Amino acid sequence: MKEKLENILKEAQQLSHHIKNSEDLENFRVKFLGRQGLLSEIIKNIKDLPQEQRRELGSYFNFVKSEIQKIYDEKKEIILKPKTEYFDPYHPGEKIDAGRINLITKEFNIIREIFSKLNFNIEIGNEIVNEYENFDSLNIPPNHPSRDLWDTFWITKDLKNKNLLLRTHTSAHQVELLKKYKIPCRFVVLGKVFRHEATDQRHEIQFHQIEGVSVGQNSNISELKSVLSYFFENYFNKKLDILFRSSYFPFTEPSFEIDIECIFCNKKGCNVCKFSKFIEVAGAGMIHPFVLKQAGIDYEKNFGYAFGLGFERLVMLKYNINDIRYFHSGDLRFINQF
Ligand code: DAH
Repeated sequence: MKEKLENILKEAQQLSHHIKNSEDLENFRVKFLGRQGLLSEIIKNIKDLPQEQRRELGSYFNFVKSEIQKIYDEKKEIILKPKTEYFDPYHPGEKIDAGRINLITKEFNIIREIFSKLNFNIEIGNEIVNEYENFDSLNIPPNHPSRDLWDTFWITKDLKNKNLLLRTHTSAHQVELLKKYKIPCRFVVLGKVFRHEATDQRHEIQFHQIEGVSVGQNSNISELKSVLSYFFENYFNKKLDILFRSSYFPFTEPSFEIDIECIFCNKKGCNVCKFSKFIEVAGAGMIHPFVLKQAGIDYEKNFGYAFGLGFERLVMLKYNINDIRYFHSGDLRFINQF
């Protein structure tokens, strides 16, 4: 029987080299250490032996059993070790989604930087303003037909002179800021405005404007043109022709509509510019004496210019975006592209 035990140990030692996975390990356990395994069989026979032999074989049996158990334990530790400890240098890295700056903020930062270089102070203004700021101070009296140009979200309609509304344009801050800065001054207001109108590819109830104001000795139309040329060239990274067309705004005289050369076709004519070769991007003009007067500025001696740029319009041109409604849709397929 001792020989049998010796053979069992030898076999276990040899087999241990072939244990490669948990299935082999379990087979090994069942074969040698299991309830119906080889060792259990032997112990049954040892029981029937005379006492002397039993003692001798018993202790040898214990030795063999503990050797086999050792083999089993060692293999078990290697095979069942947690997989995470295994490092594969060729495994592709896991993508970490760290979030990103929204397109609107990103472009605002670029625009802010360009105007800062031109010495414009940067303002944001309040989104809620009163009727005087949004209309009256800009030479748009109550009942004047031009008020209809700005479809307004009114907040209160009954407090005299204090009617509140969501600003329909960033021009609403002209007088307030001219009073704050004193002349000469230059500032831009970057902010969200609201219009109560039907939405489509080019219209949204909320969008952003960039209002520029400059009052001082050199604040004339030629400077306005060079400031805007500099801005467009730096924003689109391309030298662009600008077109001033005469227009009407109650708060500027003279007033202009400003177009830039179509950035898609280089003035050859295409679907985006509707073959006009230019695209409208801003309104502008020399600030009306009425507005300067509201700010307490002597309009006989001082003058200045103002311009209002449609922010989304510019971004849409830069990135070839064909629907303004994407900006506030919260659609990640849109947001994650930038
Ligand atoms: N506030 C005008 C609008 O929302 C845009 C505008 C036109 C602003 C002429 C100006 C300007 O400063 O001079 O339509």
